[in-house]
Amino acid sequence: MSSDPAAKSPTPPEPLPPPPAEAVARFSPEILSRLTDYGQQLATAGVVRGLIGPREVPRLWDRHLLNCAALAEAIGEGESVADIGTGAGLPGLVLALARPDLRVVLVEPLERRCVFLQEMIARFRLAPRVELRRGKAHVVKPCAADVVTSRAVAALDVLAGWSFPHLRVGGRLLALKGDRADEELLAAKTELAKWGADTEAGVIVCGADWLPQPIKVVRAWRRR
Ligand SMILES: C[S@@+](CC[C@H](N)C(=O)[O-])C[C@H]1O[C@@H](n2cnc3c(N)ncnc32)[C@H](O)[C@@H]1O
Repeated sequence: MSSDPAAKSPTPPEPLPPPPAEAVARFSPEILSRLTDYGQQLATAGVVRGLIGPREVPRLWDRHLLNCAALAEAIGEGESVADIGTGAGLPGLVLALARPDLRVVLVEPLERRCVFLQEMIARFRLAPRVELRRGKAHVVKPCAADVVTSRAVAALDVLAGWSFPHLRVGGRLLALKGDRADEELLAAKTELAKWGADTEAGVIVCGADWLPQPIKVVRAWRRR
């Protein structure tokens, strides 16, 4: 046995930082409290179960919760959303918590993540407005959603093939893509064309008037 007492106890998880001023100004106290609770679940169970890295905890608000919440700007009242490769619920659960008018399907193949997602659906009493479909995007039942979202799942040319089958014709893809958005859009033109989605596709910015670092999102409509 080690004589070093520090070696006996694992490093305690970092606490979730308090919500930044832009979150307090943006959300009602009720929504802020739900996002804070979800952030705490990510910072504790999420870290312990390896769903997010411990180093992400100090930046959970700005890099994860608020980035995902900003995507809500591009989603209309009462629309249905399918979040492909949601992981621990990013952005799908954040959207569901921040926007009680939305119906959200979370698509995720990995069991560990699905167990956590089911716990969150129960914790926040989100059923039946929020549903989990466990499996790879090309295997699970198509969602016929108004909007398909994704973050950090695959390059856009691959992601398009996974996402468009879950859209109704006339629905749109919203993929958080960061600084590579324009580059990926260009590289995915051929795949987008298969869905009639190449001509109107573009990159939009969300959170421009309230996020310190607004997000870049590829938006493309399914036309066939
Ligand atoms: C890097 S994680 C991102 C998770 C989350 N979207 C986020 O931003 O934190 C990628 C996720 O995509 C999921 N994934 C990988 N291939 C997939 C597929 N074919 N269909 C659906 N999800 C997939 C993985 O299981 C994983 O949870």
